[in-house]
Amino acid sequence: MKILTCIIIAYFGLSSADTIPELAEKLNGLKFVKLLDDVGLTDMLSGSGPFTVFVPTDNAFDALADDVFNKMTKDKEMLKSVLLFHILSWKIYTKELNNEKRIPTLNNNMKVRINLYNKKIVIDGSKVLLADQNSTNGVIHVIDKVLVPLPSQNMLQYLASNGEFYKFIHSFVKVKLERKLIDGPFTLFAPTDAAFEHFPPYLLIKLVSDDKKLSDTLNYHLVKGTLYTAGLTNGMVLPTVEGRSLNITMNPDKLVVSDCKITTADISVVNGVIHVIDTVLLPPVVG
Ligand SMILES: *[C@@H]1O[C@H](CO)[C@@H](O)[C@H](O)[C@H]1NC(C)=O
Ligand SMILES: *[C@@H]1O[C@H](CO)[C@@H](O)[C@H](O)[C@H]1NC(C)=O
Repeated sequence: MKILTCIIIAYFGLSSADTIPELAEKLNGLKFVKLLDDVGLTDMLSGSGPFTVFVPTDNAFDALADDVFNKMTKDKEMLKSVLLFHILSWKIYTKELNNEKRIPTLNNNMKVRINLYNKKIVIDGSKVLLADQNSTNGVIHVIDKVLVPLPSQNMLQYLASNGEFYKFIHSFVKVKLERKLIDGPFTLFAPTDAAFEHFPPYLLIKLVSDDKKLSDTLNYHLVKGTLYTAGLTNGMVLPTVEGRSLNITMNPDKLVVSDCKITTADISVVNGVIHVIDTVLLPPVVG
């Protein structure tokens, strides 16, 4: 009887007799499965479900900085919440995903964001490497980065709580554009206070004494839609809210937006994504 069952399964190609943890292990997710085990989530994910699980590859865990990985794994509650952020309590295939859709996870309903860039599917900035893998109790999408649950802040709240962007926020408030940092979805290139200090003083005076020029400059830092680096390509031209475009230069060790270096990329906020830059972007008419 056992042999017959095996033959039938082999005949019909029904190889999806694996539960989520069993399948994840076969799909390069050994480390993820081990961590699930450490916090006691294996039983749940072996149960009836159905679940959707975004499984980061072993490489994705290796790519985490040591201090981030250690901090994450030392605190079991934190680790559990990070892992739950990769799990949905129903089955969703990639063909059902829309750009900018936000989906609640098992981590207190905190949401991940879906972006579609041409044929690329991106989950909170992490690329889907292998989609729609069926298990007996759900579906797995393999991803290239570990997802990090962030507090649900909008751009304004993030910049204000960070402490490095006082001058940038203050400029938005001065010309009454701060609403833009709450609306969205937007991609924001955010210069730090240090970036403003590198600014030629005569230009700075020109800017702060002219609300129109200052508004144009701030709008030149905003692009419509959520563009994680996974969606950027070398030579890409991004139309800004100001009207003129920014250029993306991308090579393995550098990411540049119109001559300004991106120093920290892919900070998820509820109304989009922030990339930190080391220089203030200046629209041609202002400079
Ligand atoms: C998983 O199942 C769905 C729905 O039946 C199907 O559309 C999809 O192609 C399957 N995935 C794979 C990799 O076979
Ligand atoms: C962006 O690239 C276009 C065409 O390559 C060029 O004309 C334009 O000056 C560039 N803009 C900036 C801000 O670098």
